[in-house]
Amino acid sequence: MKEIVVSGIRPTGKLHLGNYFGAFKNFLTLQEEFNSYFFIADYHSLTTHPTQSDMAGSVKRVLAEYIALGLDPEKCTIYIQSDLPETAELYLMLNMNAYLGELERVTSFKDKVRSQPNNINAGLLTYPVLMAADILIHKGVKVPVGKDQEQHLEMARTFGNRFNRLYQTDIFPEPQAFSAGKELVKVPGLTGGGKMSKSAGDADTIYLDESAETLKKKIMRAVSDSGPTVPGAPKSQPVQNLFDLMSLVCKTETIEFFDQEHKNGSIRYGDLKKQLAADMENFIAPLREKIQDTLNNEKRLDEIAKFGAEKARKNARETMNAVREAVGFKKN
Ligand code: ADP
Ligand code: TRP
Repeated sequence: MKEIVVSGIRPTGKLHLGNYFGAFKNFLTLQEEFNSYFFIADYHSLTTHPTQSDMAGSVKRVLAEYIALGLDPEKCTIYIQSDLPETAELYLMLNMNAYLGELERVTSFKDKVRSQPNNINAGLLTYPVLMAADILIHKGVKVPVGKDQEQHLEMARTFGNRFNRLYQTDIFPEPQAFSAGKELVKVPGLTGGGKMSKSAGDADTIYLDESAETLKKKIMRAVSDSGPTVPGAPKSQPVQNLFDLMSLVCKTETIEFFDQEHKNGSIRYGDLKKQLAADMENFIAPLREKIQDTLNNEKRLDEIAKFGAEKARKNARETMNAVREAVGFKKN
């Protein structure tokens, strides 16, 4: 039997370069060989955006991007998380054996407590439980995600193993974070911080449908530093970020050239950014075009979502029946 792949992205905005290189690029490879489930995590988006003005529109946007960028509904199962009530039921069951202490220790939760101490809901606390349910409902073993999701994967293993032990079953296999490269990916943003993220704002983020003009403007305004003070000086974080972005879209010779210039202490960041902007435009241009074309085809998107939901539910129902039986409930 083919191994099972599961992953999702929250519909809280347009997809960006971090989503692409951290997660989506692996979706494209994995759909060719495995039994893959790719969903849109709209339940999850309620943890931070409980009253979205246009939820349906946001979901459709990500669905269109999935299709435009190359997911094929004939090769993998593409669905919307909330079309699978089985996920919510499994989340409820897993919550009964998830402990406050372990949930409070999760880095993403601690970050939220720090950044918005007066707005912490139970959904944020149990975010990793819902994510575990997403994966375990399909008995997923490979989970293509960026580096920021590593700890959540560890929790998914904990919850699955704990369920197996408590109810003396072997329903759930152990899921692992997946990246085609040696390591999980972290794409930096343009404002000098750690990872590119929608929540860090528009100036930090390169969207996959960015116009040529905005793209160039954003890159030319990216944070750098005042230049190496002595030849051989190490790169500052913002400059390392620019090199990391180059490694995604530029030729090796280009990177080596600017690396040498930096070592010599003669680098001109304006030139580096101009080259990065040109190579990024070459990467983005075809994606931008495909995204715009797909967005207009509403009818096809609705059909794809319906087709995917049916396929995903069939599998989810089977898992949930086994779970209900293990806990001592009757099958549905
Ligand atoms: P955001 O952080 O912008 O809100 P999401 O949390 O919806 O994006 O992330 C969806 C997927 O994209 C996850 O697998 C996540 O690991 C990946 N991802 C997001 N940002 C980055 C990044 N800067 N580098 C690598 N992967 C990322
Ligand atoms: N937590 C992931 C993110 O922000 C999204 C997500 C939800 C997910 N459920 C998942 C990813 C299950 C992989 C598998 O980025």
